[in-house]
Amino acid sequence: MICGKGGTGKSVISVLMARILSRKYNVYLIDSDESNTLLPEMLGAPQPKPLVEYLGGRGSVFKRGEVNIVRALSKAGRGVVLKNLPDQYVSKSPEGIGLIVIGKVRNYSEGCACPLNYLTRTLLKHLVLDEDEVVLVVTDAGIEHIGRGVEEGSDAVLAVVDPTAESLSLAKTLKEQIKPLKKKFWLVLNKATPEVADIIIEKAKGMGLEVNGVIGFDEKIFKSCLEGGVLKAEKSMSQVENVLKAINLL
Ligand SMILES: Nc1ncnc2c1ncn2[C@@H]1O[C@H](COP(=O)(O)OP(=O)(O)OP(=O)(O)O)[C@@H](O)[C@H]1O
Ligand SMILES: [Mg+2]
Repeated sequence: MICGKGGTGKSVISVLMARILSRKYNVYLIDSDESNTLLPEMLGAPQPKPLVEYLGGRGSVFKRGEVNIVRALSKAGRGVVLKNLPDQYVSKSPEGIGLIVIGKVRNYSEGCACPLNYLTRTLLKHLVLDEDEVVLVVTDAGIEHIGRGVEEGSDAVLAVVDPTAESLSLAKTLKEQIKPLKKKFWLVLNKATPEVADIIIEKAKGMGLEVNGVIGFDEKIFKSCLEGGVLKAEKSMSQVENVLKAINLL
């Protein structure tokens, strides 16, 4: 699960990680952010139908409950196998990355995102993966997903921080809150110019946080996010690759 304060680079890093991992694995990217909508565009994949619609919409999620959600999403009682989901709910990027969008809040007064987080949590808890499959989950900004216990079904949490004390503070809360779950926890510093990287690494150390990787400010990412469309990156690609190696995913 890729988590962190708003705007730190969760979407960018998850798309770049998905691309790199897709050279070796069958990668799925699950968009569990209920607000932002451009992840398909960044990935270069068509917009899939939100998975919550497969279950009858947000209003049906709590009514169904965990058992019936899993039943609806499974075939042959094996748990949730992503490649068995209907095609319209899993779109594909040019590299073959499968994109699943949990659902979005769009209308005034339509209710909170709790059912969406509950669906993500249930999906992850009952996910059945093949040896060559990797699932990356991009969460909503901040800490709402912690309140819903979405992390329970994950193997690891990667917190993305930018060069701000606020994002480090949120990462510390994340680390502390998932401690009882005994998940792996990694911290990646993004958008770091050389001048600030050392300051943040030192600051993190003082807070009991280890920075597992640093991704620099990449003009190409910045420009590509300014213009929209498929995410482009340049020098940060090798840094993202180094992060994946450092945390033993490559
Ligand atoms: N390595 C980088 N170099 C330069 N700019 C970057 C980098 N990573 C991210 N950005 C900039 O930061 C912005 C936010 O990145 P991104 O959308 O990935 O953050 P996020 O954490 O997913 O945000 P949100 O919390 O809104 O979902 C991008 O639009 C881009 O302008
Ligand atoms: Mg995002």
